[in-house]
Amino acid sequence: MGRIAYVNGRFERHARAAVHIEDRGYQMADAVYEVWALFGGKLSDPEGHFARLERSLGELKIPMPMGRRALTHVLKEAVRQNRVRDGLVYLQIGRGVAPRDHAFPNPPVSPSMVITVKAIDRVAAEAKAAAGVSVITTPENRWGRCDIKTVGLLPNAMAKQAAREKGAAEAWFVDELGFVTEGASSNAWIVDAEGTLRTRDTNANILRGVTRNTLLDVIRENGLKVDERPFTPADAEAAQEAFITGAGAMVLPVIAVDGKPVGAGKVGPVATRLRRLYIERAIATAI
Ligand code: PDD
Repeated sequence: MGRIAYVNGRFERHARAAVHIEDRGYQMADAVYEVWALFGGKLSDPEGHFARLERSLGELKIPMPMGRRALTHVLKEAVRQNRVRDGLVYLQIGRGVAPRDHAFPNPPVSPSMVITVKAIDRVAAEAKAAAGVSVITTPENRWGRCDIKTVGLLPNAMAKQAAREKGAAEAWFVDELGFVTEGASSNAWIVDAEGTLRTRDTNANILRGVTRNTLLDVIRENGLKVDERPFTPADAEAAQEAFITGAGAMVLPVIAVDGKPVGAGKVGPVATRLRRLYIERAIATAI
């Protein structure tokens, strides 16, 4: 059986699923999204992703097309129909379809909603984590509301492409003061020379990563030192370890920044342990 997508109330063959040409998500990036990791067919970090979805929609004044319970049901049905155990669920909710006009349609139209599900090869993902990945840095050039998870991802896509062309897995944006904000699709962390975990604070213009937030809980529960304080690429080179977090990456060790090794240039014990602890937590709390 092939992949199935959900589009505006219907489950359809993924290969044939489509939205209208005047969907505002397509024309104006007037849409938000969420990505859940799937463990054994269950949605990871449910509370964090639902809360952020509601916040993103609220900031754009797009109504939730259905309540949390109904949405959970539809997401789980999409997972079931795709028979995926380990993978990612993508949800996009947009303002809807209306004749092109920058201002919001008045009267409002019903929001559009799309769900896709894809499988992940966990064995390959673990091998990637065991080897570690490289990142490049690139000047921060995004708008001022990166806290809203919109589909306006062109700077992120360009940064990721630049990374790929240099053989790196991720690009870290660096602001005008020289500090790393976050990755193109992940949050950025180091274990600094003193052994303190550091990641950018959420007053900065970054996405409030759900994985980041859960990992902060795990870190504190395990009595590790953590400081939500900016770091520079030079701090990353001088650090013991670095890693990225996200629904796709989970906790993924970084061994080089702009071609320069982080610490010993090898995957370190802290990132390895945190990856294991995060996955244990995600499995235990998935729904
Ligand atoms: N990206 N920062 C950015 C810019 C992101 O796009 C993401 C997630 C994160 C990490 O957030 P979370 O831990 O909630 O996944 C940080 C998703 C996975 C994506 O775009 O596919």
